Amino acid sequence: MTDEKIESLSKESRLFLPPTNPTAAVGSQEEYERIYRRSIDDMEGFWAERADELLSWEKKWDNVLEWDFDVPEIKWFSGGKLNVAYNCLDRHLENGRRNKAALIWQGEQDQDVKVYTYQMLHDEVCRFANVLKKKGIKKGDRVSIYLPMIPELAVAMLACARIGAPHSIVFAGFSANALRDRINDCGSKVHITGTAVNRAGRQIPLKPNTDEALKECPGVEQVVVVDSAPGYQADMVEGRDVWWHEEMAEDDVHGGCPCESMESEDPLFILYTSGSTGKPKGVFHTQAGYLTYTAHTCQWVFDLKDDDVHWCTADIGWVTGHSYIVYGPLALGATSLMFEGVPTYPNPDRYWQICQKFKVNIFYTAPTVIRALMREGDQWTQNHDLSNLRVLGTVGEPINPEAWMWYYKQIGNSKLPIVDTWWQTETGGHVISGLPYATPMKPGAASTPLPGIDAAIIDKDGKEVGPDEGGFLVIRKPWPGMLRGVWGNQERFKATYFAGFPGTYESGDGARRDEDGYFWIMGRVDDVINVSGHRLGTAEIESALVAHPAVSEAAVVGMPHEVKGQSIYAYVTLKGDEDESDELRKELVTHVRKEIGPLAAPEIMQFAPGLPKTRSGKIMRRILRKIAEGDTSNLGDTSTLADPGVVQDLIEGNADLT
Ligand code: WT7
Repeated sequence: MTDEKIESLSKESRLFLPPTNPTAAVGSQEEYERIYRRSIDDMEGFWAERADELLSWEKKWDNVLEWDFDVPEIKWFSGGKLNVAYNCLDRHLENGRRNKAALIWQGEQDQDVKVYTYQMLHDEVCRFANVLKKKGIKKGDRVSIYLPMIPELAVAMLACARIGAPHSIVFAGFSANALRDRINDCGSKVHITGTAVNRAGRQIPLKPNTDEALKECPGVEQVVVVDSAPGYQADMVEGRDVWWHEEMAEDDVHGGCPCESMESEDPLFILYTSGSTGKPKGVFHTQAGYLTYTAHTCQWVFDLKDDDVHWCTADIGWVTGHSYIVYGPLALGATSLMFEGVPTYPNPDRYWQICQKFKVNIFYTAPTVIRALMREGDQWTQNHDLSNLRVLGTVGEPINPEAWMWYYKQIGNSKLPIVDTWWQTETGGHVISGLPYATPMKPGAASTPLPGIDAAIIDKDGKEVGPDEGGFLVIRKPWPGMLRGVWGNQERFKATYFAGFPGTYESGDGARRDEDGYFWIMGRVDDVINVSGHRLGTAEIESALVAHPAVSEAAVVGMPHEVKGQSIYAYVTLKGDEDESDELRKELVTHVRKEIGPLAAPEIMQFAPGLPKTRSGKIMRRILRKIAEGDTSNLGDTSTLADPGVVQDLIEGNADLT
């Protein structure tokens, strides 16, 4: 969209009033407006109150906020000391929650359930923290983690937090090569992995990916392996690999592990995300601001209360799981449900069956899941008691009004609030979202900025646009949960987020704001594709394609997809002597899966004798996007193309494929 005017989505005018709830943190639209105004006028006062109320500090901060978006540098609560694991575990042992379920884990088989009380989770975390210490991990050392959705993943994260070692989690669906690059970029010495992933009745090997990746990761000295898929035989490398369960059974890891005293701005974790260049960015977050922010948004956006069972269906390998399965809910002392499985196995009612089984109160998922389940038919929702649900949420991409209505009626029984939460890996937590008992709902709108978030929509000159005009979504002031940098590359931090509109955080999304002040997200304005709520950079996929010996050039764009939101359309120019065969097409798709992961596999691959380029050699993606969408009636100005003839070839090639 970079080279075009940002167009508005179709208008949706329905309005649904939120239910009332006298115990809600923010109970009406008027209250929201009052709190919002105060949070902007007295930002430091607002966040100081929240940080004080939500967290336990070893030492209070000296300054609430120091910032300069031009450097850029952002420091929240500097001079303060605390420990994130202490806040998520230890303090709950003394405040009456010792025997409360912290984590409920549901495995793929219905009988596979594990419940960890706060006491039990604390003890596991201490033990694993001792294991890491024995492996030489000290404060500041990075630990990479590549695990399925099993309790050991949460234990490993909190153990890292306890001893001050930033974790870097790589989603288990990523390939060996993607893992290798992320391990090398963060420089981890110890790596934690599993044997295999249980998925829809199959075991998908994980350990072989680790082994392959580690062939080119000279920095990794030791690997801890979780037996994550009983029955799966994994090869262990002598002298490097050890079993999690054996390490945890050693005598000298029992007996507790003190919390490291951490500065507010020490890094907590690194998480890689795609941008518009080929190499993923290691977004990093720090201790105090991130934890304040995730606890705060859990409390206000989900209205998460002590007795609630909170279920976020995301994988912990993405930021959603970091913030809303682990850190936010546990900081509040709530009960967080973690599920290893898929929504349609063994049947498309798996989620609703789990909601009934554990009497889930807060349910948070992605539009792509809602669309997939909606297609399976209403019969799957009807035989389950969903009466404990209180707040529904969505995240990852704009939700189409049809899916919203289905969620509202079928799951929410036409009375529950739905919070459509707009945020990013970089924002740490929700930044634009309705509040469940305050914000009237418009299907498809992310609604209004949360307190403390100074969001705006601007044009390319940095001027705020009028109502319903599309523009770039930016945030003008810092908030505690925002990223503090790109690991090892502060230049890129500046160039990506603060150079486009100096003095302002640039999200990379386009949006419009309606007359009521509601934000409607219109998608990315950069070369990022959102497949099932997951970000993929076109450049990453293109560089994977051109790395194949048969490929001379490649261009990748997003195209609309009924369930995934967007899917990948790849145009590939082969080297002179290569045949355009279906076998080669399959081989190239497999190649991308191997280079990046199954998520990145192109849905359609078109062999293109040439790509539409300007005379200066820039590929005109606008044209490729239009062809992929099947909308060739208005290709816009093609007069600057070096060879306008290629467009007709591409249109014909597309017609042959679709
Ligand atoms: C991008 C961030 C934040 C967790 C999941 C993805 C899109 C996210 C919404 C929403 C419309 C959304 C944006 C954003 N996005 N939530 N509620 N409505 N779009 O995290 O991988 O960092 O991706 O996801 O385009 O920039 P991420």
